[in-house]
Amino acid sequence: MNKIAIIDFGGQYTHLIARRIRNLGVYSEIYHPEEFVVTKEIIGIIFSGGPQSVNAEDAFRIDIDVANIRTPILGICYGHQILASMLGGVIESGESKEYGLTNISCESDSILFSGLEQQQTVWMSHGDHVAVLPDSCRITAYSDSINVASYESNDNRFFGVQFHPEVTHTENGLIMLDKFISVCTDKRDWKAENFKDSLIQQIKDEAKCRKLVLLLSGGVDSLVAMELCIQAVGKENVFSIHVDTGFMRKNESQEIMEYFAELGFENIKIIAAEELYLKELKCVVEPEAKRLIIGKLFVDIANQELLTLEKEAELMLVQGTIYPDTIESGSTDKAAKIKTHHNRVDEITKLIEAGRVIEPIKELYKDEVRLLGEELGLPHKLVHRHPFPGPGLAIRVICSDTSTPSIPLDQPSYNFGKAGSVMNKEEAELNEILADFGLIGKILPIKSVGVQGDFRTYHHPAVIWFKAGRKPNWHDLKIAASRAINKLASVNRIVFSWQSVDLQLQKLFLEKPVLDRLREVDAILRRETDQIAEIWQMPVVALPLFQNGRQAFVMRPVCSSDAMTASVYEMDFAEFERLSKLVQKIDGVGNLLYDVTTKPPGTIEWE
Ligand code: XMP
Repeated sequence: MNKIAIIDFGGQYTHLIARRIRNLGVYSEIYHPEEFVVTKEIIGIIFSGGPQSVNAEDAFRIDIDVANIRTPILGICYGHQILASMLGGVIESGESKEYGLTNISCESDSILFSGLEQQQTVWMSHGDHVAVLPDSCRITAYSDSINVASYESNDNRFFGVQFHPEVTHTENGLIMLDKFISVCTDKRDWKAENFKDSLIQQIKDEAKCRKLVLLLSGGVDSLVAMELCIQAVGKENVFSIHVDTGFMRKNESQEIMEYFAELGFENIKIIAAEELYLKELKCVVEPEAKRLIIGKLFVDIANQELLTLEKEAELMLVQGTIYPDTIESGSTDKAAKIKTHHNRVDEITKLIEAGRVIEPIKELYKDEVRLLGEELGLPHKLVHRHPFPGPGLAIRVICSDTSTPSIPLDQPSYNFGKAGSVMNKEEAELNEILADFGLIGKILPIKSVGVQGDFRTYHHPAVIWFKAGRKPNWHDLKIAASRAINKLASVNRIVFSWQSVDLQLQKLFLEKPVLDRLREVDAILRRETDQIAEIWQMPVVALPLFQNGRQAFVMRPVCSSDAMTASVYEMDFAEFERLSKLVQKIDGVGNLLYDVTTKPPGTIEWE
């Protein structure tokens, strides 16, 4: 079958490129650079992005004779750079790092941008850039920061784009990929197979008459996986275990039981494990450490249950893992680990290797899981619930084992601004950037996870607010946030406050009263924003930061379609102020902050 080969240089979006190409009607397959051989069936090649620098000695290369190959090649991000380098260009690391939405100006004679407006909004995530293009190519787009945002070879065989056309935030990315496909072929004969039937058949084949035990978190993914299992092997052969970790949202475990009762499914065992989880996580602060403990406990508990059940029959374990869970856990050889999702801890990986686990939807993205859920006949309201992470609220409480701020990290403090006010260098730089927009900011003495240029980051959020008399507006807020993160090495996330704040670090651990308070804040904010269809997910995060003895919280409403990238939902400022005042009615709750960071550079969750 004719296909387009996607070469995986380890980027976070490689799988997404493959999926987009298939959606555009051409079969596509992912290959490792070292194993790739050009065959007759391959009508086009796409080099993916990747976390490395082309100039690094151990950077991934690909052995293709570019002088003689006739097959068109499109390079994306790292792929754009390595292709330029293979053609004789020069790549530089440097000042021009760009993350997030960027405007580019396109040349009208380009193939990829033909028919599009000259100004395009695209999604960038890179450190290096193409500094010198080979003579055989011409620049087809540039941005404020880089000259070569895109190039095409004069013989129309090679194409490079520094940005990511495969993510939804590149407005016309699909059109650009479509144009590349048109260079490769005029046939669009690949139709997405009927997911549902082939997945049901796959489960039957893997289960081979064994009973299935599903680890049910209660989220959309495990629900869809469960429905697939039921349709594959029948209700009586499917058992579910729901571990109540104590990290669920308000009334959630109870709602799950009601859902399943409504669906007429009764083989569910709920294991109350809150005390155990709190004991094991007492005093644990570091996010990866938390995730690993949660994942391991989950498997231990599930294993004990399996042993009991196994006395009766041979079993297979089923997980509702979806594609982003595996890719962000660094599961392909070359992708950088962003965070270990709970269904990829070592214990689960061992069971997978032993052939004991079925993951029927592991190739799918969230939007595909939802479509599949509807096709399976699940109620719309169930499959369109917001995603909720396996480790639950445990990764939404930012813990601290100290009340001594760790800023200024390795930088000397120095006097800045009015006499006596001491800031570290980064905070001074932050305020220089913000001043242009009438904003003021402080770097917070805590850390959160982010993703920049395919790598995990673990840096500081900064809180910013408008100067008195300045009307809040999203335009300034977004540009200021993106500039600050691109410029400052120690900042990977920006949160907005509707008023000035002075937050102090205090010790905070995963304890029941802390979780209960978060549950209350989360429940109110969810209730108040429930009707906003554009919000795809809205983590609410508890911080170890206090003002006048009252704790600060963050709301993070994001718009996304597959969680690989996300933009910020732009709430009306008066509404945000109303919500802030509303949650302050809860005992001990102080400032409410609004996360204004896109993904990348921030991840959706804070840990
Ligand atoms: P991030 O924070 O990586 O999240 O941008 C992307 C999506 O994945 C969810 N998420 C998880 N889901 N187990 C899960 O089942 C996990 O460990 C986990 N971590 C993040 C997150 O809520 C978002 O929808």
